[in-house]
Amino acid sequence: MAAMSLERHTRRAALAIGATSAGALALTGCDSAEEEPKPKPQPQELAKLDDVPVGETKLVTMPGGKKLPGKDRVEQVVLTRTDEQTVNAYSNICTHAECLVKPKGEDLFCPCHNATFDRTTGEPKKGPPQTPLNQVAVHIADGKIMTGSA
Ligand code: FES
Repeated sequence: MAAMSLERHTRRAALAIGATSAGALALTGCDSAEEEPKPKPQPQELAKLDDVPVGETKLVTMPGGKKLPGKDRVEQVVLTRTDEQTVNAYSNICTHAECLVKPKGEDLFCPCHNATFDRTTGEPKKGPPQTPLNQVAVHIADGKIMTGSA
């Protein structure tokens, strides 16, 4: 009799453990089914608006910029201010073979194959690149040029 009672007790315990595990699995399933969207990256300051006068172009550090093979080859952002409230921004990684473009005269210049890009549109003007520079989303807030859209 005592053995039978122990056996029943053990079965109850096993059922209870099974039910608890199923509940935990169900909760786990709920968590994965309701994944929260990734938080939007916080805007970061690229430059003060006054540091890029209208008509000027400036090369600045890209927060989290891509590191390329070779010494000191880190992606930067080319900022061109076209009017009081408009700044266009492009990655300085050349779309031909990943050399780094720099402002030169009225254009952006890639020294690897003597290519030029339009500094206000990022479009290739001369040389082998067929693709525009990658646009970087920026906005102006409180007199600063910030990453991301407003
Ligand atoms: S890498 Fe820029 S033109 Fe070739």
